[in-house]
Amino acid sequence: MTKRVLLIISGGIAAYKSLELVRLLRKRGVAVRAVLTQSAEKFVTPLSLGVLTEDHVFGQLFDLKEEREIGHIQLSRQADLVVVAPATANILAKMANGIADDLATTLLLATDKPVLAVPAMNVRMWHHAATRRNIAQLQADGVHVMEPDSGEMACGEFGKGRMPEPEAIAAEVARLLALPLAADPLAGQPDFEGPDAPLAGRHVLVTAGPTHEPIDPVRYIANRSSGKQGFAIAAAAARAGARVTLVAGPVHLPTPAGVRRIDVETAREMLAAVEAALPADAAIMVAAVADWRTADAADQKLKKDGSGKPAPLALVENPDILAKLGKHAKRPALLVGFAAETQKIAEHAQAKLTRKGADWIVANDVSGDVMGGDTNSVHIVSGDGIESWDNLPKDAVATRLMQKVADTLSARLD
Ligand code: C5P
Repeated sequence: MTKRVLLIISGGIAAYKSLELVRLLRKRGVAVRAVLTQSAEKFVTPLSLGVLTEDHVFGQLFDLKEEREIGHIQLSRQADLVVVAPATANILAKMANGIADDLATTLLLATDKPVLAVPAMNVRMWHHAATRRNIAQLQADGVHVMEPDSGEMACGEFGKGRMPEPEAIAAEVARLLALPLAADPLAGQPDFEGPDAPLAGRHVLVTAGPTHEPIDPVRYIANRSSGKQGFAIAAAAARAGARVTLVAGPVHLPTPAGVRRIDVETAREMLAAVEAALPADAAIMVAAVADWRTADAADQKLKKDGSGKPAPLALVENPDILAKLGKHAKRPALLVGFAAETQKIAEHAQAKLTRKGADWIVANDVSGDVMGGDTNSVHIVSGDGIESWDNLPKDAVATRLMQKVADTLSARLD
């Protein structure tokens, strides 16, 4: 049966991206009916939406003709999913407080269907305490809230708040509507052997990228991790049908389609985000977490005094996220760590497996240019022994690893 989406467009500059979203959803066979708030009409026209949706576009609450033909309560319930994209700080605030002062917000209050909100706003508005409160309230109310992207904003500022790309929103809609997977446009053939979505119904948690540990307001300790392998793993897990949470250190990589991304800076923030994301069926810890942080990050920029004395830097150990998960009350059924080694790869990985309480350690040889490069040569070390794979593109490593995760989870959990 045709799935139906009620798309509410509120007034943000990102509204233009919603036209592309409609096109992508229609291509997947989803029927879309659009509602524009009054300010949205300043950014996109009812005409272009009408053409793309091949349906009437709704706008005013007290339009007598509309109300006679289809009442607003009915309108809010005929869809399988209500999507608010872009969701401005204003409409999110109204939703969180049950305010219904136009057609869009009235429908949101009257609906009995799942709601997906796709926030888009200026970085300061996104981080404002009021928005934080509203998002937390909406999530507690069961609204699915997509994480905005980071990057340059229409207003010239840089940061978090950009509306995710239409492909990512369409993938999230497809997941919530349980649509069959779209073929991966890059592969040209199915990624996975057996069922198309071998990780359907599973929650996969992935960490990726480096962490930054502040020294003072302008300096930090970092490493050369690019995040590419972890992002490829999150993308492959989503293509395999999993619900994916990606906890990412500071990297400039686009969020893979269908992935919920949580950006963090430090190891301690990464640990908190990982614990908050539990329970998960599988956790793949790919991040290159800094082993040490400064004992006390300075509030002011440190100054050299010209005496030639060593820098006043004391380092303390960071929590080991993987080891903590290994002993966690909510330990995932499958726990996978990565290990970057330059020598005695298998031996070191074996020791790490035991020390951290992981099921597998994916050991990679970083003596070449793996960090930042596009290929990886890995050895999977587990209680059963070692499996060595050829040097493969990071995408292929990710797909193969997710196939192995899916097979293992179905053997353990089904
Ligand atoms: O001990 P080592 O850093 O080599 O271990 C690597 C593995 O442990 C990776 O999976 C990495 O994500 C994880 N790790 C962690 N927290 C740390 C250090 C490493 O989760 N503080």
